[in-house]
Amino acid sequence: MKNRRLFRNRLIVVSNREPYSLKKGRSEKSVGGLVSALDPVMRASKGVWVASTPAGRGVKDRRIMVPLDDPSYTMRLVPVTRRDMDDYYHGYSNRLLWPLCHITLDKIFLKQSYWEGYKKVNSLFADAVVEEAQRKGVFVWLQDYHLALCARYVRERRPDLKLSLFWHIPWPPYDVFRACPQKREILEGMLANDLIGFQIESFKRNFMRCVDMELGAGIDVKEGFIHWRGHSTRVRAFPISVDYEWFENAARSKRAERFARRFMRERNLSGRIMGLSVDRLDYTKGIIKCIEALDAFFEKYPEYRERFTFVQVAVPTRKAEPYLSYMEQVRSKVRYLNEKYSTRGWRPVEYIEKRLGHEDLAALYRAADIVVITSVYDGMNLVAKEYVASQVDLKGILLVSEFAGAAEDVPGSIHINPYDTEGCADVIRNAIETEPETKRDLLKVAREYIKEYDIYRWVEGILEEMKEIR
Ligand code: UDP
Ligand code: G6P
Repeated sequence: MKNRRLFRNRLIVVSNREPYSLKKGRSEKSVGGLVSALDPVMRASKGVWVASTPAGRGVKDRRIMVPLDDPSYTMRLVPVTRRDMDDYYHGYSNRLLWPLCHITLDKIFLKQSYWEGYKKVNSLFADAVVEEAQRKGVFVWLQDYHLALCARYVRERRPDLKLSLFWHIPWPPYDVFRACPQKREILEGMLANDLIGFQIESFKRNFMRCVDMELGAGIDVKEGFIHWRGHSTRVRAFPISVDYEWFENAARSKRAERFARRFMRERNLSGRIMGLSVDRLDYTKGIIKCIEALDAFFEKYPEYRERFTFVQVAVPTRKAEPYLSYMEQVRSKVRYLNEKYSTRGWRPVEYIEKRLGHEDLAALYRAADIVVITSVYDGMNLVAKEYVASQVDLKGILLVSEFAGAAEDVPGSIHINPYDTEGCADVIRNAIETEPETKRDLLKVAREYIKEYDIYRWVEGILEEMKEIR
């Protein structure tokens, strides 16, 4: 990457999740596109990555060079007590901001302590940033909705630092955002950044309108600037992507072939059409809607019973309400569907409730004839792009909810409306029946695009824009 030198000693990345987890004297890289993309940049720039860690986890040293077996950059851990974690992470982040931004207002639950905890932990992050940013000309790159107030707390003490925030999840329309009791503080906190990135244009436009309605700040929609209290913030869309080359190679590997062969054998999938969905067990992913669409599909098109199997990978997440109840609901829906249609030696849904590594996922992506993404709202959905990158035989087809950023940023994908249950069933059937030639053409278009706009391009785009900040 050409920007590696530019950011030598000057890049501080800040995220709630740590890039490496430390277990028994070993460091294990966290899974996910962001860590994969930023890890090489951090290694080359010898920067600092600030992240939270449970206080009292036995982590003595708050600054650790990672990875432990090839120390390259500093991971600065911010210890957060269990109680603060409950308020800031499970509470304000996941029970207010997450459902608010994903337009699932009935899931919002707010206690005053959540907001107090959110402010407190954001200021702990800010303390760590200020401590780490001793040099002049440091770039601070904040990640996601856990850190909406951090820039403001940093700015109060270090007005000279260049601050940027990437908002990985959607930004809702104003009529939804209004529901947030702390809407003004959130917006003001964010506007302390010099640059704010969103996944797609419509989230950026939603944000600018919220600022306009709530603060009456000066808005330049065309140029993407917000002027507020003597400070200007650049606002731009930067659609996140995946490591195309990595997934392509992983999907072609012997290991992937072996894994897929064994998987197909063990699950009795050989000779059948394979559908696939890969999600955290999050209500925004519309997993129940997907299972209901499959019910409608097998009802309406009985000729596909025994011929089509849907593999649902569902990863437990966030270990608190409403996630625990959602997991139960998903399990019971799957059970219901399997009881309704199963025959000797065949189940409509193969349900895998655990996290798989990227190597295994690449193998499944390659093998899947169709991937279905039914998110009710989603920032991007990396699974969509990983599937495209892994489809080296050009035989599959991608169905993406029109409410996921990926619908806008993956050409060649077929759009579905997860609220239209029977409509989804029809699209699944049409997708399966699509001519192989047409599938190849759609995938070629998608693959060319994602190959060009991969995760490295995303990082570069944001770093270039930060460079422009005056
Ligand atoms: N993922 C994984 N193992 C799994 C399921 C998912 O590593 O068993 C990864 C997946 O490959 C993707 C990420 O988790 O990189 C999910 O990203 P996405 O944007 O689709 O949704 P998010 O979970 O961030 O809302
Ligand atoms: C989404 C969010 C990320 C978050 C991830 C996993 O992708 O945008 O910020 O890290 O979900 O959620 P978790 O709560 O486990 O970090």
